[in-house]
Amino acid sequence: MQFKKVGVLTSGGDAPGMNAAIRSVVRTGIHKGWQMVGVRNGYQGLISENFQPLGVRDVGGIMHQGGTILGSARCLEFTTLDGQRKAVRNLNRHGIDGLVVIGGNGSQTGSYALSKLDYPVVGVASTIDNDLCGSDITIGVDTALNIAVEAIDRLKITASSHQRAFLVEVMGRDCGYLALMAAIAGGAEKVLIPEVDFEPEDVAREISEAYDKGKAHAIIVVAEGAKYNAEQLRDYFTANKERLGFSIRISILGHTQRGGSPTAYDRTLASRLGAGATAALERGETGVLVGMIKSEIVTTPLVEVCNNKKPIDLALFELQRILD
Ligand code: F6P
Repeated sequence: MQFKKVGVLTSGGDAPGMNAAIRSVVRTGIHKGWQMVGVRNGYQGLISENFQPLGVRDVGGIMHQGGTILGSARCLEFTTLDGQRKAVRNLNRHGIDGLVVIGGNGSQTGSYALSKLDYPVVGVASTIDNDLCGSDITIGVDTALNIAVEAIDRLKITASSHQRAFLVEVMGRDCGYLALMAAIAGGAEKVLIPEVDFEPEDVAREISEAYDKGKAHAIIVVAEGAKYNAEQLRDYFTANKERLGFSIRISILGHTQRGGSPTAYDRTLASRLGAGATAALERGETGVLVGMIKSEIVTTPLVEVCNNKKPIDLALFELQRILD
């Protein structure tokens, strides 16, 4: 299919590296002779016709910035078939004959909906959660992980001074990937993830044993989607402080993990995936997600991406237990 005008939007939670992906989509699209259009505020912009032409210079100087210059928003109207049809009508009215959607699970459910209406669309795998089928790693994961590891390194120092234990809660929605990798890279004593069941008393026993063995601190990384969150665990440990023999503090990293300048890894991944998206459109591939599998830029049908859950590698969980 020959394209004349192609749109690009970012949707869902922002991820460091999204701007590098926008830049790559725009510049590789222009290189193919297409006019490029930015859609403001995700799917909301399709509904409200919030379109802006993007030239080569409009995406200059954004590579190092976190967030997304196009904005992101949640859009209830787009979750309905009427909303999706309206979006396609608006795209057609503005002569936009293809779309690149940069985002995670929810966002790619949106692109899948557009593809089912026969609108040409390609997704780019971008979420700090790394829970998207069709890509070994997604845009933003590396930066978010580095932020978590830096926080753990800092907390370890103050924890050691006071012989304290710290619960460090990291994002990831219902996926434990970020927590697990942060625990390994940060040398944490324990990691708690949604994929593995646990009880607070068992965690407390392990931490007490670690102190008995001579540890000066204990760092417990908790995924936000774990069976008990950091606040619940803190309350349990505090209520049993005398019996357990250690004092606990919590640090919830939250959205700090989504801000900040993307790492070189995220910038290059985003540049490659953005280029992969315009290449896929040019080949006539639509209804697919562009991701990276075994270091190759590949496409996966959105129907597969949206109907499958990405498994976590439990061998890494075992590794963390051995290394703690
Ligand atoms: O999906 C990315 C993510 O940061 C999750 O890790 C987190 O659970 C969620 O978004 C937070 O969403 P919001 O920015 O709407 O609070």
